[in-house]
Amino acid sequence: MSKLRLGFVGVGGMGQMAHLSNYAVLTNECEVVALAEPRPQLAKLVADRYGIPKVFHDHKELLEKADVDAVVAAQPYRRHSILIPDILRKCIPVFTEKPLCLTVEAGEKLVALGEQSGTLHMVGYHKRSDPAMEYAKNVISEWKASGELGRMRLVRVTMPPGDWVGGADKPLDSGEKCLPLDWEPYSNEFGEAANKMYDGFVNYYIHQVNAIRFLLGEPYAVSFVEKSQVLMVGQSSSGVCVSLEMSPYRTTVDWQETLLIGFEKGFVRIELPAPLVRQRPGRVIVMRDDGKSAPTTLEPTLPMRSAMRSQAINFIAAVRKERPAPCIAKEALEDLKVARDYIRFLFPSR
Ligand SMILES: NC(=O)c1ccc[n+]([C@@H]2O[C@H](COP(=O)([O-])OP(=O)(O)OC[C@H]3O[C@@H](n4cnc5c(N)ncnc54)[C@H](O)[C@@H]3O)[C@@H](O)[C@H]2O)c1
Repeated sequence: MSKLRLGFVGVGGMGQMAHLSNYAVLTNECEVVALAEPRPQLAKLVADRYGIPKVFHDHKELLEKADVDAVVAAQPYRRHSILIPDILRKCIPVFTEKPLCLTVEAGEKLVALGEQSGTLHMVGYHKRSDPAMEYAKNVISEWKASGELGRMRLVRVTMPPGDWVGGADKPLDSGEKCLPLDWEPYSNEFGEAANKMYDGFVNYYIHQVNAIRFLLGEPYAVSFVEKSQVLMVGQSSSGVCVSLEMSPYRTTVDWQETLLIGFEKGFVRIELPAPLVRQRPGRVIVMRDDGKSAPTTLEPTLPMRSAMRSQAINFIAAVRKERPAPCIAKEALEDLKVARDYIRFLFPSR
């Protein structure tokens, strides 16, 4: 099969550390043939380091002049609604970081544009691609289908902030400042304080908001938010309780995110590593106690592959239509709706 020709739009921090460093080694599957970056010295440093033949000033020039099958656009999410429509209108499959964008309203427009043009927009919820999450998802789907472990009761995520870089190499840095840019404006629904809190929430805890739906396999809605902002509770469409515990404590040299999926007669527990960790998956522990045979606890050995590397493999496969993308824009829009409801609970008078 011929290699996928990729264009990179922006090679800032995440562009290099999370994405380019992973696509660059998938040499049987893809080739990074072009990059666009308005900071010329940074563009040259990165193109030289990774052997990228074509360099353009910005995404518009790349879209006009480069011959690419897909684009990886690692951009701040408040830039998505400004920049991504140009890529979707060209019908080029695109990967962006999470969240989909800032507001629900702008997200609806992005989803509509992608659907009208029939173009894939995969959103970078990398945790879905972690081998531990993939393993857990399979176990959960089997248990749900067979009913052998009873009903699903709980999805609980505990998210103490920590060292998210996890030892990854620093990105190349030319010292050039980013150009002044346009940003997606805050929502009219909220005042300044609510908007700032919403922005912080969609920047950070949106990962866990998304992971909860992934593990449930169905939608859920927020039913309670504790005023300290440590606890958000919700319920899924079939009645499963969900809880998200935010910053119960923090760590400085570790990442201790855990996810517990409880069934009546067993559980699946996942521990995830730092987002930028290199070539290490999370851990999964599966406990079964059906009351008939002796209870068992299993910890499978997983491939030594990071979530970000797996995510790159998954994007290439989705562009080739070999399997669905782990998360597309339409589902990522649901995360923004959960985030909006979370803020509505905290600011009833907005
Ligand atoms: N998945 C995670 O765990 C995780 C962790 C941290 C951050 N993020 C996400 O990453 C995003 C920030 O990404 P980043 O740190 O790479 O941002 P960045 O600002 O470092 O990089 C963006 C780059 O795009 C360039 N650029 C600007 N306009 C452009 C244009 N028109 N065409 C081409 N390039 C252009 C900028 O010069 C810059 O170099 C945030 O939205 C955040 O949510 C995700």
